Amino acid sequence: MILVFPDVDAVADYVSDTLYTQIRSRPPMTLGLATGGTMEPIYQYFIDKVKAGNLDVSQLSIFNLDEYVGLDANHPQSYAAYMKARLFEHLPFNLQNCHVPDGKAALDANYCQQYSTQIQRHGGIDFQLLGVGGNGHIGFNEPGTPFDSRCHIVELAPRTRLDNSRFFAPGELVPAHAITMGIQDIMEAREILLVATGPKKASTMKKFVDHGITEQVPFTVLKRHPATTIVLDEAAAQALPPASYQRIYT
Ligand code: GLP
Repeated sequence: MILVFPDVDAVADYVSDTLYTQIRSRPPMTLGLATGGTMEPIYQYFIDKVKAGNLDVSQLSIFNLDEYVGLDANHPQSYAAYMKARLFEHLPFNLQNCHVPDGKAALDANYCQQYSTQIQRHGGIDFQLLGVGGNGHIGFNEPGTPFDSRCHIVELAPRTRLDNSRFFAPGELVPAHAITMGIQDIMEAREILLVATGPKKASTMKKFVDHGITEQVPFTVLKRHPATTIVLDEAAAQALPPASYQRIYT
């Protein structure tokens, strides 16, 4: 199901409401969370709603999708730092249960396998939030990644490094490798919500509707998932045939 909202604020309002409702209905749940520019307004809205509604987030377990290999949690462009600054430090989470893959330990033998196993030991992910890369990647699962992959190290595609260079200081190199949950880890989530906003995602979304299910466009695998919703703003939906989505007026 593809839902299209008028703008980024309407998307953030809807997605943060969905997160809020999920957590309120089962406080000890396991969430899979994502980073990237798309998630920033969503986390801002979510923080405000949790504070206003006094929602208990202390029983949540969180597993983040990915991290750059070689960056430690204090590096400003690490996803650990992103999560801390944009979400974790704003609400009373139990930080023992908030997991971001460790970019420094990622290359240790068994680290990747342990990350997947840890998710399974928590009973799997109840609700997975996803963004999508310009080339259709989810997490950092680049085109060509097998659909049965578990947590692993990837070499980032040139397009991904270019897209993500906007978060790094001028002249600073985007790491060449990342650790990511695998596509199978993601697909085992009971419910998935993928968000894409802005005109740069219009051609990405067109690939989603134009292609069947192919490892060359990783997020097409979501067509196989029984409980996936895709949420877009008008800009990201502009190249889609109107019959492929439902427009939500707010
Ligand atoms: C990164 C992350 C993805 C994210 C994607 C989209 O590559 N690894 O998890 O979905 O970028 O990012 P943005 O929201 O900034 O477009």
